[in-house]
Amino acid sequence: MALDPQSHPETILQHWGEENKPEGAVVPPIFQNSLFVFEDTWSFQNSFSLEDPTQRKHNYSRVSNPTLEIAEEKIAALEKTEAAKVFGSGMAAISAAIMSSVAQGSHVVCVDTAYGPTKQFIQDYLPKFGVRHTYVEGSCTEEILDACLPETSLIYLESPSSLLFKFQDFRRVTQFAQEKGITTVTDNSYCSPYFQNPAEMGVDMVVHSATKYLGGHSDVVAGALACSHERMTKLLMNEISLLGGGMAPFPAWLLIRGMRTLALRMRYAESAGHRMAAWLGSRSEVARVFHAGDADHPQRELATSQMRGSSSLLSFEPVCQEEAKIRAFADALHLFQLGVSWGGFESLCVPIPMQPMGWNEPRWIIRLYVGLENPEDLEADLSQAFEHLR
Ligand SMILES: Cc1ncc(COP(=O)(O)O)c(C=O)c1O
Repeated sequence: MALDPQSHPETILQHWGEENKPEGAVVPPIFQNSLFVFEDTWSFQNSFSLEDPTQRKHNYSRVSNPTLEIAEEKIAALEKTEAAKVFGSGMAAISAAIMSSVAQGSHVVCVDTAYGPTKQFIQDYLPKFGVRHTYVEGSCTEEILDACLPETSLIYLESPSSLLFKFQDFRRVTQFAQEKGITTVTDNSYCSPYFQNPAEMGVDMVVHSATKYLGGHSDVVAGALACSHERMTKLLMNEISLLGGGMAPFPAWLLIRGMRTLALRMRYAESAGHRMAAWLGSRSEVARVFHAGDADHPQRELATSQMRGSSSLLSFEPVCQEEAKIRAFADALHLFQLGVSWGGFESLCVPIPMQPMGWNEPRWIIRLYVGLENPEDLEADLSQAFEHLR
């Protein structure tokens, strides 16, 4: 089946990258093999071709494999980039993107609301190589630009952030970064490529925890990185083949299967997120709701200029800040399970004490991920648990 490159995301998710299925199989088989063999030494040698991506052949599954390639072609088409690569986890994709953007003595500017282990990688691991960093309040573009030093080689963004749902201005930041020769990377896990395409706004590398909405079923840990052919060629020669964080064929097959329903799930997630945000906002136990789709969000104009929709991850600050009561609330939930991840079928809750930049004191925030259960059942579950937060 020849697909129009302008196909809509829903069509890309079903058919893109699947032109060569053997035996008329409607679902692509898993290429569960570690290597590929060649008929002659010339084709063997050409398979390594890194200069011309069209000449590349599958050679060794640490670097490429036909099953991975299907997921990669879909993600690149959705993110509107020339290339994409899938990894064994979101952190493998994130660390590869970061490592490819720094050298000894470089400086990184990172938003203070980035995913915790990403910050740990930047603040605790990179100093081993003499790489320094500055954290910035990313909703203030001037702060990001002012933090850049002559040796800054990377600006790391996550918009929206996945706890307080703050946005960074991709267009302004990338325009500045391009002028200065600084690489920009953003985590796009919250929106998935269905709701946001940062590369179209100038971001050089887009990373995903594909464990979240892309996979969508809590049965695979996966990562993805989307960028230009030029950057991908460098990544293939370095971080991908040397650090070896690529994905294995079976998780890639699960990822492809999960992605088929991405559009449906994201549209549902958007409506479920709005409904939950409104319901929480009506509760006397709730002081503030943090929701990327909030019509009264202080950065609403920026949000709608960058995203086509919001999802079902949100958080709230309870009026009652007593730790014991917050624990009792979370322990009393039945449908919302206590767990770290999100983007799957099941609703989740995590209470987190935090003090980000600009807050005078630490506050408890309760993050909720709204899954695919019936919304009335979820609200009833929260209602009974709120008894403990009074
Ligand atoms: C926003 C965000 N980015 C990245 C990651 C890391 O992804 P993974 O757990 O797939 O390595 C997570 C995981 O929770 C996340 O929430």
